[in-house]
Amino acid sequence: MIADRLAFAVALAVEAGALALRMQSGLGPADAKSPIDFCTEADRAVERLIRERVTERFADSMIGEEDGGEASDSVWVVDPIDGTTGYIHGTPRWCVSLGYMRAGIIELGVIYAPVDDRLFTARRGQGAFLNGRRIQVSHLRHQAVPVVETGWSERRPFAAYCALLTRLNAGRIEFRRHGSGALGLAEVAAGLNDAYVELHINAWDCLAGILLVQEAGGHVNDFLADDGLVKGNLIFACTPELVERIGPMLDGLHEVGR
Ligand code: IPD
Repeated sequence: MIADRLAFAVALAVEAGALALRMQSGLGPADAKSPIDFCTEADRAVERLIRERVTERFADSMIGEEDGGEASDSVWVVDPIDGTTGYIHGTPRWCVSLGYMRAGIIELGVIYAPVDDRLFTARRGQGAFLNGRRIQVSHLRHQAVPVVETGWSERRPFAAYCALLTRLNAGRIEFRRHGSGALGLAEVAAGLNDAYVELHINAWDCLAGILLVQEAGGHVNDFLADDGLVKGNLIFACTPELVERIGPMLDGLHEVGR
């Protein structure tokens, strides 16, 4: 049942976050997957813990950032530590991200940021919550300049990212990059920023966040199109008021370097 899995995912995200937090000091050297993409022993240990818990409780499959896995009709999509660079540097800006899909539909999203003890949860059709309190996208109620978080990785050319920033700036939209796609999306859901855009992101970074934004009343592009679950895709999530303003700025950019 989905309700069982939600309770399970909340407990597991908190357990996994606590393990990552204990391992944050005294880390060995990280493996560099690219000059800006790392994997620590903690990423591997936390993913192992999550896989163990999932398989001892359910007959579900799991796709994890570090050890991969297979999709199925009942699949968990997991980033053990999203924001690994910030984690290595000792910042609070990293999280555990657990998404659950049944028959190709995202049913659950749980994101836990242990340092500041923020737990974001969403169940399809039942709203989005931060530490148990319902959250909503901003609807630009702040009446100030819109703020968008724009992630980047070497999976897309830096020039395409710069072109995106140039377009945002020309359109009078503020931008930020904080290093965790999952938290960037969770913060769109909570109305703490107005949009999250990344020209290519992997499913484990964003699946839980997608449901959070949708359940908080936001817009999200069809990330799962074109085999997004396996290959990753563009992500564009925002408060509905920005769909027409930011959408056209993405034209042509996420195709670059594919
Ligand atoms: C990365 C972060 C980053 C995003 C990258 C991801 P990781 O995940 O979410 O914000 O821009 O696309 O790969 O490596 O920290 O789990």
